[in-house]
Amino acid sequence: MKVTNIYCLLIIFLVCVTSSSLTQARSKSSTKVIAVHAETRTCFSRRSPCFLHRLTCPRQCPSSHPKDPKAKVCYIDCNSPICKAECRNRKPNCSGRGAACLDPRFIGGDGIVFYFHGKSKQHFSLVSDPNLQINAHFIGLRPSGRTRDYTWIQALGILFDSHALSLEATPAASWDEQVEHLKFSYDRQQLNVPKGYSSSWTSANENLKIERTESRNSVIVTIQEIAEISVTVVPVTKEDDRIHNYQIPPNDCFAHLEVQFRFFELSPKVEGVLGRTYQPDFKNPAKPGVAMPVVGGEDRYRTSSLLSADCKSCLFSPVVGLNQDLDSMKDLGILDCRGSTIIGQGIVCKN
Ligand SMILES: *[C@@H]1O[C@H](CO)[C@@H](O)[C@H](O)[C@H]1NC(C)=O
Repeated sequence: MKVTNIYCLLIIFLVCVTSSSLTQARSKSSTKVIAVHAETRTCFSRRSPCFLHRLTCPRQCPSSHPKDPKAKVCYIDCNSPICKAECRNRKPNCSGRGAACLDPRFIGGDGIVFYFHGKSKQHFSLVSDPNLQINAHFIGLRPSGRTRDYTWIQALGILFDSHALSLEATPAASWDEQVEHLKFSYDRQQLNVPKGYSSSWTSANENLKIERTESRNSVIVTIQEIAEISVTVVPVTKEDDRIHNYQIPPNDCFAHLEVQFRFFELSPKVEGVLGRTYQPDFKNPAKPGVAMPVVGGEDRYRTSSLLSADCKSCLFSPVVGLNQDLDSMKDLGILDCRGSTIIGQGIVCKN
């Protein structure tokens, strides 16, 4: 009994101390009476420079899952050596790195803006790496007298480990934002992601999560330790049509995707229209100072379908389960591979 009493007192004491210091902090920082309980976040990947660091979310974005859809979210880039929580939007930022918006305008990993037109009704690899392939299906039109197609990204096909995910903007004659224009498939089966802000779907092995960032037409896809992809479906607006003279027909609003990618473990050899701009020594062929720098590569990056990795420069060849196996072997001391390299499907131990 005595011991329990002492514990009770101790707990009451601790609660008092904590709450009074919180109150002090609050009254110092602002006069508004808003209880800001900033979350702490951490990185669970051993490869991360921030592995198990506890990072407190900034006051401007105390939560990683705010109730207000417009609020910024707390985010840590587990790949960055800075190890600091920061605020960001959950919707694609078409001016940010890794964006693919409009008639596709990309912003490379090197921060350089470029256009890749591709061709309407064809597929091109945006990213191709040993454990990640992201293809895009282009839609578009060619008004008479023009020399090329005007194109938009209608769908994304994503391959990782042994899995396949697709996200598609469904065609519509006219845009109605109350209507869902997003369609998903996982491992080639139609996938139903519950509607409503913040609803989500998680794969059985928990490696893949799709979360809505609006009640419809906007999601964030997280492939654990590989990539995070914000996607929003938008139409080609009358305004855009007028400015660029696309000559959009009255029976199709060319619903397409605005996308922003964040990658967590690309290899230095990564390929693809956007992927190659993440190579450490990449020289962007987009000419600086040109209003609309266009890059080619149609022949190197064309794939035969949304979910195939058969382009000339494609690198996708997943080694399923390798990472887990390697980790457990290292833990057990079976494999001592200091200075090892992983080449294609095999492991080379240089001891
Ligand atoms: C989008 O990204 C750009 C470039 O990083 C940045 O300057 C801008 O503030 C961002 N926009 C929003 C709304 O966060």
